Amino acid sequence: MNSARKPHSPSRRDFIRSSATLTAAAWAAPLIAPSSIFGANAPSNRITLAILGCGNQSTVDLPEWLKNDDCQIVAVCDVNRASFGYKNDKQFLGREPQRDFVNRAYAQKTTSGRYRGVDMYSDFRDVLARPDIDAVAIITPDHWHAVQTVLAARAGKDIYCQKPMTVTVREGREMIDAVRRHNRILQTGSQYRSSAVMRQACELVRNGRIGKLQRVETYLAENNFTGPGPGWKEMPVPEGFDYDSWLGPTPKVPYHHDRCFYRFRFIRVYSGGQTTNFGCHSNDVAHWGMGMDRSGPVEVEDLGAEFPPKGDLFDTPTKIAFRARYANGVVLECKTDKRNFGVTFEGSDGWLRVGNKGIESSRPGLAQEKIGANELHLEVSSNHYRNFLDSVKSRKEPVEPVEIGHRTASLCHLGNIAMILHRKLRWDPQKEEIIGDAEAAKMLSRPKRAGWGYELKVKPQVGV
Ligand SMILES: NC(=O)c1ccc[n+]([C@@H]2O[C@H](COP(=O)([O-])OP(=O)(O)OC[C@H]3O[C@@H](n4cnc5c(N)ncnc54)[C@H](O)[C@@H]3O)[C@@H](O)[C@H]2O)c1
Repeated sequence: MNSARKPHSPSRRDFIRSSATLTAAAWAAPLIAPSSIFGANAPSNRITLAILGCGNQSTVDLPEWLKNDDCQIVAVCDVNRASFGYKNDKQFLGREPQRDFVNRAYAQKTTSGRYRGVDMYSDFRDVLARPDIDAVAIITPDHWHAVQTVLAARAGKDIYCQKPMTVTVREGREMIDAVRRHNRILQTGSQYRSSAVMRQACELVRNGRIGKLQRVETYLAENNFTGPGPGWKEMPVPEGFDYDSWLGPTPKVPYHHDRCFYRFRFIRVYSGGQTTNFGCHSNDVAHWGMGMDRSGPVEVEDLGAEFPPKGDLFDTPTKIAFRARYANGVVLECKTDKRNFGVTFEGSDGWLRVGNKGIESSRPGLAQEKIGANELHLEVSSNHYRNFLDSVKSRKEPVEPVEIGHRTASLCHLGNIAMILHRKLRWDPQKEEIIGDAEAAKMLSRPKRAGWGYELKVKPQVGV
């Protein structure tokens, strides 16, 4: 990386010079990567990337990063060494399998067929302590995103943070402050922002092709797991899994398999259920088409959400249904729906739906209509990962920057609060405050476990 673009971190060349004084042989490996792997991309032009979280979504994200020869994965980190028990029975994941996966991928590009340049860590602070790492991809459960983002920003790293960006509204603002204070790039992993079909749909709506926008419907998938039910019993922590570090900023509680890998998303302490899981896709596209990217609703109300039985480990809605009203009168309804993912925009002159089936509309041919040179054009990104890497180089905001990721997550969090309390909330999108409801306002933030919040210190140490 060009040091001129990274005022807070030493240049790669500085690092090579200073590394002579380090005893850590592990750091040398990426620097001697055979040039055949990265083509014309000299070490000084490569973005060095570390992966935090080697679970289910890493199986999607790692191959995407590996497609980019100007990006070198130099480290992987996970509190789990290696195990089954993720989203499906076939997945064997954790830091060891994913380190081996990346090494194998790079080995295939060498003439010798060997490569051992990826380091492995169990404590993300040891990754952040490495001055030679430019960026981190945060693919950990949602309850870790804020602390890891803030510490990464302080350490001078750029950040690709998986969606949903947060577990509370207040965390989003804390992340924005850290990213801005330290001049970092953050891309939120709501990848539909990089879909040409979603962009086309949103451009048609924003340019008035269905008339004046009145109503929006967003669809979210049904829960794909059920909890262990009331009366669930504590289980022994599996060997090789650092459960305390998995819990991190959240309270110490008994271990159960359904609490952690993949299924954490159905427990409110760690996530927001499908409201935030799929909501940070559907509602994100909705906000794009509505032009509400950096704002939010003024009212949010429950429309009859349903929850698991009391005493179950899972406590996020089994049926999502809430309505949000915006200052311009547009109403958004967000619901569990068999269509899994998608958005319907209804205007004074017709409707347009975008989702897994592409664009459908009330007017034949609408989807094929071209956006004129003098009409509004939305930012173009054809690949979410590539868009991040380009931003790291140009220092320009990516397509889903920290503020937009936060605003989308905020809508989802407000929906969850309204559904839990079964009442209408009034929201000030400028001040980001709930008006006249102290109980609901308290739910905008949560304390972090002592010793596991932003006070965590990055201390230099070398790989496992
Ligand atoms: N963009 C998308 O379409 C998409 C799809 C799926 C998941 N995701 C997001 O990716 C994130 C991870 O989801 P998942 O399904 O991979 O979960 P997962 O449980 O399968 O994997 C998470 C991994 O993070 C590890 N981890 C936990 N705490 C850690 C820490 N402090 N340091 C390092 N590693 C730690 C866990 O041990 C686990 O291996 C979530 O935020 C989720 O919403 C995004």
